[in-house]
Amino acid sequence: MVKITKRIESAIKRDRKVIFTTTREEFPFVVDHASGDFAYDIEGNRFIDFTSFISVYNFGDNANAEIRKAVKAQVDKLMHAAFLDYYAELPVQFAENLLTMMPRGFGRVFFSNSGTEANEDAIKLAKIFTKKQYLISFYGGFHGRSLGSLGLTATKTSQRERFGPFPNVVHSIYPYPYRCQPPDPEECSKVCIDHLERNVLGKECSPREVAAIFVEPVQGEGGYIVPPRSFIKELRRICSENDILLVSDEVQSGYMRTGKFLAMDNFGVTADIYTMAKAAGGGMPLGITVARSSLGDTPAGSHAGTFGGNLVSIAAANATIKYVKKNRGKLETMVKEKGRRIMKRLEKMKSQYEVIGDARGLGMMLAIELVKDKRSKTPGVKERSAVLQRCFQNGLVLLPCGASTIRIIPPLTMSVEHIDRGLDILEDAIKSESGHSK
Ligand SMILES: Cc1ncc(COP(=O)(O)O)c(C=O)c1O
Repeated sequence: MVKITKRIESAIKRDRKVIFTTTREEFPFVVDHASGDFAYDIEGNRFIDFTSFISVYNFGDNANAEIRKAVKAQVDKLMHAAFLDYYAELPVQFAENLLTMMPRGFGRVFFSNSGTEANEDAIKLAKIFTKKQYLISFYGGFHGRSLGSLGLTATKTSQRERFGPFPNVVHSIYPYPYRCQPPDPEECSKVCIDHLERNVLGKECSPREVAAIFVEPVQGEGGYIVPPRSFIKELRRICSENDILLVSDEVQSGYMRTGKFLAMDNFGVTADIYTMAKAAGGGMPLGITVARSSLGDTPAGSHAGTFGGNLVSIAAANATIKYVKKNRGKLETMVKEKGRRIMKRLEKMKSQYEVIGDARGLGMMLAIELVKDKRSKTPGVKERSAVLQRCFQNGLVLLPCGASTIRIIPPLTMSVEHIDRGLDILEDAIKSESGHSK
């Protein structure tokens, strides 16, 4: 049982005094170090990590030895190269390596420092390439918190209120199979596509004025929602028919998380622009925007940023992509097998406990949605909070998403033994907090 000591309490109290409030979770996790499958707090308490530090450490907590070695070497050589004004070899080498992992025909890369910036860059690229002004994204979608990408984000009003209006974005509906009306996923996909074509593009915003449709292939912050394949395929059709660019936001779902390098590949669709961050930097801040070569280049001066291509981030990213390239087949199999194993256990838990309404996901991007009861499907918000806290007390860190969902995103490299142990802790918490076991 994790003990909350005076030192932990004091660290949190001091934080609250001098740091602006962000989105901190309800449990008192004051992190100190991490390695492989585990994270440790300042008192040495050890936690199994089912969060990958918000989807960043896909290849083990605090990255692997090769990534750390590359970072250390670069720190001693040159950290900041003013890559936007000067030339440097390493960012180019990384871009070339990255492009070998992309579908054919992708030729240019823009570097920034975060997911939200990667989407800002995609917004500007889409406007430059199409000379159109509107953007479409989806309810439940999360694309970042800076003012351009916040316009695309429609996960919670608390994230948007005080900052609008966002006049150039129209939101459409994303299929949420667990809560679809009608409950059939294919029917639900049709309803969503019909709404997009008939209402959004037919009544509100002419396709002649739409630059891009931004979509997460699997909605992340919105609740780990996997749309039917037909939905993504139809988005591709609509974009191709109307000269609209399809932007795949892979900030959370990319870099092997779903078992493919690009989550979009699970749907047999190629987007026109991809955005990535989180795992791409192997723990260092990095945003990446990649576009089809046929879209062309940006006019000089239209976009830049001081730290894009920072050499320490790029050194980490280059070591990460080399690791992924070398182990791609192994990683694909591993994610498939471990993902199946976790899913089987989650499905079993769902059949046993009234409080689990849905178990879902793709590869190792998995989640359970908690409900008051299976019939009403009322979100189990308090129940989720209690489960997260109990797991924390018992040495497992987890993160929420959506209204009452818990994500299960261990590092892809986590051992089966630690995955099973984490799932045992989760099941114990569900059992004791639900009080509804059959
Ligand atoms: C899909 C997606 N896009 C964009 C972002 C924003 O990334 P960042 O927090 O690095 O700005 C996130 C963050 O969670 C995300 O999940």
